[in-house]
Amino acid sequence: MKFPHSFIEEVKYRNKIDDVVSSYVNLRRAGSNYQGLCPFHSEKTPSFTIFPNTETFHCFGCGAGGDVISFIMRAENLEYPGAVELLAKRAGLNLPDTGEKQNETQKRERFLSMNREAARFFNRMLYESHAKDAREYLTSRGLTPAAVKRFGLGYAPDSFDSLRKYMRGLGYTDDELKTMFLCGRSERTGNYYDYFRGRVMFPIIDSFGNVVAFGGRLLGDGKPKYLNSSDTPVFKKSRNLFALNFARKACAEQLILCEGYMDVIAVNMAGFPNAVATLGTALTPEQARMMAKYTKKVILAYDSDEAGVKAAKRAIPMLTEVGLEVKMLRMEGAKDPDEFIKKYGATRFKTLLDASQGRMDYLCEQVLRKYNLLLPDEKTKASAELCHVLAEVRSDVEREIYITKMAEKLSVDPRSMRNDVERQRRRAAKEETAEVRRKIVSDTLGYGDRINRDFVKNARAARAEEAILGILLLRPELLSDIRRGTIALAPTDFLTDFNRRVLEALLASDENTDLGVLASDFSPDEISRITRMQVDRAKLTKNDADVLWDHIRTLKAEAPIATTGDALADIRELINKKKK
Ligand code: CTP
Ligand code: MN
Repeated sequence: MKFPHSFIEEVKYRNKIDDVVSSYVNLRRAGSNYQGLCPFHSEKTPSFTIFPNTETFHCFGCGAGGDVISFIMRAENLEYPGAVELLAKRAGLNLPDTGEKQNETQKRERFLSMNREAARFFNRMLYESHAKDAREYLTSRGLTPAAVKRFGLGYAPDSFDSLRKYMRGLGYTDDELKTMFLCGRSERTGNYYDYFRGRVMFPIIDSFGNVVAFGGRLLGDGKPKYLNSSDTPVFKKSRNLFALNFARKACAEQLILCEGYMDVIAVNMAGFPNAVATLGTALTPEQARMMAKYTKKVILAYDSDEAGVKAAKRAIPMLTEVGLEVKMLRMEGAKDPDEFIKKYGATRFKTLLDASQGRMDYLCEQVLRKYNLLLPDEKTKASAELCHVLAEVRSDVEREIYITKMAEKLSVDPRSMRNDVERQRRRAAKEETAEVRRKIVSDTLGYGDRINRDFVKNARAARAEEAILGILLLRPELLSDIRRGTIALAPTDFLTDFNRRVLEALLASDENTDLGVLASDFSPDEISRITRMQVDRAKLTKNDADVLWDHIRTLKAEAPIATTGDALADIRELINKKKK
């Protein structure tokens, strides 16, 4: 959807980027810019930067960047029109009447009612005579009818296209069903079939009560045990949590984070509605941030096996990063909360929750149990590993407490331990900046460049193109010179497709081009890349027409020679060019 340019300008003018971002990120002034911890990746030292001069942001760590609209697109997971709408609302502006907004909302509503109908269908199927196995399965797993009802569970019949037939009857198209991952399409025959067959269905419900996706479990063994909807226009796996709709209402104090759907349901049945689970993937930073919106404390109730411990170790820093206190459930005699509750009952589970362990005690214990502290050799190893763990602790007080505690455990002088931890902290800080620098270098060189795929092939030209685009974004008045022909440059001079697209878009827009205009035609990742071109140039002092000319000359010298069919002439031409 296209908003008039003047409207976008007004929206941006009324939504200063530092002001908008500050409700998401703690910003600190750094010269004329602001810095903070990047909301789009996990980091400990701020590399996320706001440039009020150009009204843009750029993260030197993960490369995300853009203007205030692209920021909202990323932060709120919205498409371009949605982001503009949000910002317009924020500034009290009325949307221009284009009639298209209506369409977007309508499409979304339609997808959501489609999912709701499907959930109803699955639920009804559970009570049909052919679903006896499914009912027996649920009973065998200890699910009460009340739990089935509460979670809206259902059954996807083991048939080729019964859901499809039903949904077609309601007027939904095959295409729509496929978009929602309710149907798949056979490549061979071109026929549409039900995506979920012969599975117990778990609807995924967002915090507004919409059915946004499904997970389905086979009744018996087989692969895959669970099948989940992939991302759709109304669903992002990485930004939803199973049962958050219940948990957010229930929890004030803490959330219990489990690995599986069945765990969440068992924990609910045991009387704790504040349980959630990720949707078949590892915890993401977005999910950590979502939890931080609703609670202060998370109890990790992952499986007690090796995979569970590994997953917990990865989840802990993500949760602490967003300010959540993390506690660990110490489960013995069962592999997951579901099994534990079935074996020992709800009361014992409550005791377990109350006795959950602080994350530092947990992490330290994980190290200590690996070594025999009576052997000097192993003690040294344990100490080195502990220093790594302790060096990660941000709070000085907390770090100090654990240094003392662990020094006592190892019976070593706390001062030596403190020295080792501090050394480790300095090294880690250095490595983080080195890591950031390496990433920028490799991005700049274009290794694994997903945005500009031609970069490596034409690195010299691509770099010149990026310089040109960067200057044009900083000095849009030079664009008019190009349009007028005073500066001889055309999109066809560009050798890489992506950069050519950017130049075309810039030339096609009117005088006051900025990123806001591009945001509707480029993806957030592409916008990030374009922002980096601008940021890279802004760091340099000279960005005038002369510099622009230099880069245009560099670019033109890289142009492939049109072959004439006369090999000798071609070689002569090549030599001439090299001489110049
Ligand atoms: N999962 C998945 N795909 C699989 C296996 C697991 O998406 N093939 C996800 C599901 O969300 C599942 C979670 O990972 O709930 C945890 O997996 P697992 O521990 O195997 O699940 P349980 O809940 O223990 O499964 P069950 O008790 O039903 O065997
Ligand atoms: Mn289980």
